[in-house]
Amino acid sequence: MANFLKVGRADEIGPGEKKIYEVDGIEVVIVNLDGEYFCLEDVCTHDGGPLGEGELENGHIICPRHGARFDVRTGDALTLPAFEPAPTYQVKVENGDLYVESY
Ligand code: FES
Repeated sequence: MANFLKVGRADEIGPGEKKIYEVDGIEVVIVNLDGEYFCLEDVCTHDGGPLGEGELENGHIICPRHGARFDVRTGDALTLPAFEPAPTYQVKVENGDLYVESY
């Protein structure tokens, strides 16, 4: 069963914003989409680009290196040159604190 690690406060990330955290040695990006939080690994599955530094648009995050789009909710790669999904992690908020799944 997954454990959850506290990474910060939920109000550190406003709606439509994102922030990079390290969870158990893995860099992840947490995105706030209209008050719901989603977490993806901060590494593009195409060529290791810094996904968390990409622009957000309509629930997608766009890799700054070659422009592949990923669905923030599912991690699915929506456009080439990436075709493998980005790993995603569950996020929960408790008493205003943000927790990310870890193993
Ligand atoms: S490294 Fe992300 S699209 Fe190439």
